[in-house]
Amino acid sequence: MRILQNTHDLANFCHKSPRILIPTMGALHEGHLALVERARHIVNLKKQDIKIIVSIFINPLQMESEQDFKKYPRQLQDDYNKLSQSSVDAVFIPLTKDIYPEKQTFLLSPPASLSSILEGEFRPNFFEGVSTVVLKLFNIVMPKFAVFGKKDYQQMLVIKEMIRQFNLDIKILSVDTLRDKRGLALSSRNLLLSADDLINASFLFECLDQIKNLLLKGNDDFDKLARDAVAKLINNGWQPDYITIRNPINLAPAMVNDNYFVVLGAAHFKGVRLIDNILFKLP
Ligand code: PAJ
Repeated sequence: MRILQNTHDLANFCHKSPRILIPTMGALHEGHLALVERARHIVNLKKQDIKIIVSIFINPLQMESEQDFKKYPRQLQDDYNKLSQSSVDAVFIPLTKDIYPEKQTFLLSPPASLSSILEGEFRPNFFEGVSTVVLKLFNIVMPKFAVFGKKDYQQMLVIKEMIRQFNLDIKILSVDTLRDKRGLALSSRNLLLSADDLINASFLFECLDQIKNLLLKGNDDFDKLARDAVAKLINNGWQPDYITIRNPINLAPAMVNDNYFVVLGAAHFKGVRLIDNILFKLP
C-alpha cells in the first residue's frame, strides 16, 4: 500500500489507471473496511487495473466547533495498519494547507430542501463543509467510482445530488451500515465513549428498530412513533436532536400509503453526538 501526501504523488501513482475513491476522516473501523471490500468487489467484477484509494482528511469545515475538531479521534498509525492489511492500493493523506490554501474558502451551498433539514438543521453549514471537501477530493483524485456508507444517509443523498447537478461522471457505490453485536452503528466517534457507555449506546438503534417493527405491524401514526422514541431517549439520559420517519428518496416526511421508509435519529449520549438510521420496505 502506498502513502500519498500530495497531488503530485497521486498523479504519479495513478498514471492513467481509473480510480475508486473512499473518502474518510480516519479513526478507521470495520465499517470503513466494508467500503474497501465493496470497492474490491467492483474491481474484481470489472477485471481492470482500477486503483482503490482511501483518503484520510479531518475536514475542519464540517466540524461543529474548534472543540469538536480538536477532540475528533486521530490514530493514523492504527489506520495505516488496518489499511495495509486490506486490499487498498493507496492512502491519500493531504495536509489542511493543501486542501484549503486560501484565506477564504469557496464554499458549496447544497439545496436547502436536502441540506437544511435533519443534520443540517442541527449542524448549520455541515453539508456546505462536506460537499466542499468531497468535491475537492473528487477533483484531485478524479475517480470513476466513490464509495459511501448508508450510515450517513443524508450525506450520501447530498453527494449524489451534487454529482447530478454538477454533471460529474462518478458513480456512487453505497454500503449498508455495519453494527456491533448489540446493534450500535460503528462510528469513529464511538471511541469517545467509555466501555460502559458503549454498551448503552445501542439504545438509539433499539429505538429506531422498535419504530421499524411498529411500522411493519401497520402503525402509521408517524408523529406519535417519533415522539414516543424521543421521550424514551430522554428518560434514559439521552438528549435527542431528532427522531423521524422519512421518504428515503428525498427525505420528505413519510406519508400514509408509503411503503419505503428511512427512520433516522440523532442524539447526544454522555457528551457524544451519535446518528443512525434504518432503511426498509414494507413487504
Ligand atoms: P467518516 O465518518 O470517516 O466516514 C467515511 C465513510 O464511511 C462515510 O461514507 C460513512 O458513511 C462510512 N461509514 C462510517 N461508519 C460506517 C458504518 N458503521 N457502516 C458503513 N459505513 C460507514 O463521513 C465522513 O467521514 C466525512 O463526512 C467525509 C465523507 C469523509 C467528508 O469529510
